[in-house]
Order: sequence, then C-alpha cells, then structure tokens
Amino acid sequence: MANIAVVGAAGYVGLAYSVSLAAFGHRVIGVDRDPGRIWMLNDGVAPIHEPELPELLQRGLATGLLTFTTDYATAIPPAEFVFICVGTPSTETGAADTSAIVAAATAIARQSKGRTIVVNKSTMPVGSAQFVADILAEHAPSGVTFTVVSNPEFLREGSAIYDIFHPDRIVLGADDLDAAHAVGDLYNTLNAAILITQPRTAEMVKYASNAFLATKISFINEVALICDQLDADVDVVARGMGMDARITPRFLHAGLGFGGSCFPKDVRALAAMARENACDSPLLNAVLDINAGMRSHVIAKVRRRLGTLTGATIGLFGLSFKPETDDIREAPAISLIEELLAQEATVQATDPVANAHIAARFPEVRLAADAYGAAMSADAVILVTEWPAYRSLNLDRIANAMRGRLVVDGRNVLDPGKVASAGLVYEGIGRPRNEGAGTRITVLPEAEPLRAQPRPESVIDSHPLASRGD
Ligand code: UDX
Repeated sequence: MANIAVVGAAGYVGLAYSVSLAAFGHRVIGVDRDPGRIWMLNDGVAPIHEPELPELLQRGLATGLLTFTTDYATAIPPAEFVFICVGTPSTETGAADTSAIVAAATAIARQSKGRTIVVNKSTMPVGSAQFVADILAEHAPSGVTFTVVSNPEFLREGSAIYDIFHPDRIVLGADDLDAAHAVGDLYNTLNAAILITQPRTAEMVKYASNAFLATKISFINEVALICDQLDADVDVVARGMGMDARITPRFLHAGLGFGGSCFPKDVRALAAMARENACDSPLLNAVLDINAGMRSHVIAKVRRRLGTLTGATIGLFGLSFKPETDDIREAPAISLIEELLAQEATVQATDPVANAHIAARFPEVRLAADAYGAAMSADAVILVTEWPAYRSLNLDRIANAMRGRLVVDGRNVLDPGKVASAGLVYEGIGRPRNEGAGTRITVLPEAEPLRAQPRPESVIDSHPLASRGD
C-alpha cells in the first residue's frame, strides 16, 4: 500500500484515478481547490456522470482509504506519490494552457516533507516533466527532493473506470528508472503491458495516440464525403477496411466528427508544439479542418434540401459530444446550433442528459424532453449524437410530428429503408442516395476470420537504460 495524493481530484481524470487507486488498496487523499465539489465527494456524491464512479467513491470512503480535502497542507506531507491531474485547456493559439500545472507544482513543492515522486498524469506538453521538476526545485524547502515521472492517461469518458482497470498499456517516462518502477508498482494489481521510456517520449506517446485516433476519424470522414459524391456506402467501406487486421474497424465510424475534451484540444496542442518548433504539421491541420468541415457538410445538406434555412425549424437529436456523457465541450451540436441560429433557423433540440448545459449556453434554443418533442413541426431533423434511444426511434411518430420530411443521420445509425418506409427522406453521411435500398452486404461464412492480434508481452521495457534485471 502506498500513500498517494491526487491534485485536481474533483476533475474528471483526478477523480477517476482517486477512486481507482483507493480500489487498488492505496491510501489516497484527493485535493482540489473547488470546495463545493470536495464537500460533495466527502459526502459520497460524484459531481460528474461516469459509470462505476459512485460505487468506487462510496467504497473508498467506507474503507477509509479515500478522503478529499481542499488543504494541500493536509494532503501533500504524508504522500510518497503526488499525481498531478489538473486541466490543460487550449489557449487562443491552440497551445496547452499550463497555468494550473504551475500552480499545482508550486503548492506541492511548498508542502512536501521528504522524498516525493510526482506523477504527471494530465496531458502536458512535451518537456513538461522537466518543466515541473524545475518548478518543484525552485520552491522546495531544503532537504526535500522530487522525482518526476510522466504517466499519461488514456481514459475515455463514459468508460473511464473500465479503462483504468483494463489498460492496453501503461506508459511511464522517467530519467530515474527506480522511480519509474515504483510508479509501475502502483498498478501491479493490473495485468498490463508497461512501456518505460524517457519523459519527452512518454509525453509524445499521449499526443500521438490521440492525434492518430482523430486522424482515423477524419480519414474515414473524408472518404465519406467522396462516397457521398460517388454513391458508395462508407459504412461498408469501413467494414471492408477494418477486416484487414492491420487497420482494425475501430475509430472508422463516419459522421459529424470528433468532439470532447481531448481530441480537438490535443491535436491543436500537438500542431502548436510543431509550429513553435519550426515543424510543419499539414496532416494535423487537415485532421482539424476535415472535422470542422463535417459540421458544415451536414448544414449544407439540410440547406440544399430545404432551399433556405431562414425561418426553417430544425430538430436536433443529441447534444453531448458522444453518448453516455453530459459533456458538451466541442460537441458537434454546438457548431450546428451556432450555424443554424446564424442563418435564422429555429432550433429545437433534445438530449437525455445534456439539455441543461445547452440551455445555459443557448437560451434561444427550444429544448424538448425527447426526440418526438424536438421533431414537432420541424422541417428537418438531424441525429447528432447516437444515444441508444435515437437508434430505435418510432419513425412513424417522428413523421407525424414533423412538418417536413428530411431526416439527416449525422452518425449513420438509422436504417435508411425504415426511415423511407415511414414516408421520410433519409440522408446519411457517405451512404447511398438510393432511398430505401438499405445496405447490401454479404459476408460469406467461409470468409477468413480476422486474424487475432498477438497479445503484448506483460512488460515491455524500452528504456535504453532498462536492464535492471528485476
Ligand atoms: C478520447 C480517447 O479515446 C482517450 O484515450 C483519451 O484519453 C481522451 O480522448 P473521449 O474523448 O472520451 O476519449 O472519447 P472517444 O470515445 O475516444 O471519442 C472521441 C470522439 O470521436 C467522439 O466525439 C466520438 O463521437 C468521435 N468518434 C469516435 C467518431 O466520430 N468516430 C469514431 O469512429 C470514433
């Protein structure tokens, strides 16, 4: 059992790690400057919508292994490990804002009492391990020493706890191998591959991973736009591509593109790091441009069908950036609403959990309790986020509610044939125009099954100095 402090414990990453590290059997004190959230957490109430989080929070509090405070002087002195989990939002240039990291590192330095390993868990620009080490050294009392280990997170919203317990890999970046192994040992209840490397490389693994996944999405979206023109079916194309074990079918779902707190911010930050270091990043810039273009593409589809958006009523189904979260950061719905309002359309929208966030940001949007309410008297509806409820809509009810007939499926989850059968006009993203044709696809039983990916070794230690022998 280790003593761990988590800085930024009321935020998304910090909270997910606080409850999980306590579930691994460590003693965890979460510290955060938000007193309202700390009060809720000590009361056993999770301030964010995330599966399994409330259960682990309550279990941690009940066992006494997990506590929360706003006071660094309580959290830091007993800690052998301090996890930095503060936010790094985009600045106006697209670069990561590191002010919360500076504040956290300064506070940690002032309160530490002995040898402390600081774990950089937030997504931080390349070079941040050294940056944090310098701040710690500047503010540390005499006799206090720090080692910084970069240990980026790879959590998906909506499955953050699952992802912590089932990581594809744990990445550790450190100049001090003993410190890297000590951090690796915190996860020894997990059966995960561990990659140990230099800090700058570990920091880059995180950015490159997110940028690559975003690239897959923009790639298939560009193919979808071409399919739209050539009357081919991008979903079948993606399926056919994904049957190649080198490609895999994951992150090849065409649609309105990526949003959320990570992909847009991290691709921008990587492009900014390239720019600041006199490197070109034409691919990253294209990934962002294609993503923004998907929103415009859908608006253009609606405008083309309706003739004009001025005075039209448009229903939006789904407002969060993806299902199972109430997070609307960089959600496609935001760009759609802005564009529709700019063109003087009336927007009627609905989401299972994110209505309140949209109401706070766009008071002029009419919010409905469900898709049938959002479709009421609408000239067109757009499926924006593929919540399960929208995959199995009663299409006759939608048709009866609407004034017009156009259904734009921004996530390619509806059956075009069923939409047409309800008397509606279907438009997907890169799906054949041939209304009612559905998707013709045959996979023969004798087709060779996907080749299984070889399992990674349990520990891959790529650090050049790594021949420790233990
Ligand atoms: C992502 C990464 O997956 C995670 O490893 C990282 O640490 C944080 O960013 P998250 O933002 O929670 O996680 O969502 P994810 O499920 O990866 O989806 C990101 C976005 O891409 C969503 O807007 C989703 O709708 C979109 N997406 C995803 C597609 O448009 N097509 C796809 O095929 C996959």
